[in-house]
Amino acid sequence: MKVAIIGASGQTGLKLVRESLRRGHQVVAVCRTSSADRLKEFSDNGGCTVITAPVVSDLATLTQALAGCDAGVAVLISVRRLRATELVRSLAKAAAANGVKRLVFTAGEVTAAPEKDETFTLRQRIMLLVFTLMTWFTPYSMTDMIEASVLVRQQPDWDWTIVRAPTLREEPGVGYRLCEINEVTAKHVLSREDYATCLLDSLENPEHYRRALTVVSAGG
Ligand SMILES: NC(=O)c1ccc[n+]([C@@H]2O[C@H](COP(=O)([O-])OP(=O)(O)OC[C@H]3O[C@@H](n4cnc5c(N)ncnc54)[C@H](OP(=O)(O)O)[C@@H]3O)[C@@H](O)[C@H]2O)c1
Repeated sequence: MKVAIIGASGQTGLKLVRESLRRGHQVVAVCRTSSADRLKEFSDNGGCTVITAPVVSDLATLTQALAGCDAGVAVLISVRRLRATELVRSLAKAAAANGVKRLVFTAGEVTAAPEKDETFTLRQRIMLLVFTLMTWFTPYSMTDMIEASVLVRQQPDWDWTIVRAPTLREEPGVGYRLCEINEVTAKHVLSREDYATCLLDSLENPEHYRRALTVVSAGG
């Protein structure tokens, strides 16, 4: 499979690139121009094409990146210069231009709107409130992330999957399990290695089309 990884130079993105190449996928890695050095080991080994832009939501960049791809994985984040909603809007146009329908997105525990049949726990509702208030005094925008998850679900042609994770850890993988969103407690964590594995397993699994999943560490 040829996969575009958008946000490839981040902590999860790098693990996604490594695991994709290990699985034999061709990888197009999209990242900020200023972060391209972090992908050098992969581009030097020939398995990965790196495409850079000052802001990765740039339409021309995404259209170029998705050319010939079967699927895309996007690390969603909403900061002042990179709005998740803009990334999803540009991806919608770029994917349509290239006939790409399979898209997988990262999300935090409460940074994607719940499905119609899901409810957040009291702790998750408090997290949502705190994160929303933080929008006023940090560069991060929870409201934009949630709006982006709504936009993803609205794309009629996409076989999308959103994979929500608890606190991520920079530690070796121990395996993962999928669970209900309201099973997640403050004790649940996930290694980024396992997150990357789960995102790519989902990418390859048609049963996960048009679903928001929740993943935690197998041991938790
Ligand atoms: N961190 C957690 O505990 C946690 C928990 C649950 C879910 N998640 C979700 O999991 C995903 C990956 O998280 P992560 O912690 O592994 O990601 P990360 O390393 O923080 O990086 C995520 C992406 O955001 C980009 N980015 C960061 N700051 C930026 C800025 N100021 N301007 C433009 N781009 C910027 C990074 O680009 P560069 O490489 O160019 O810096 C990278 O592509 C995200 O969707 C996150 O919401 C995270």
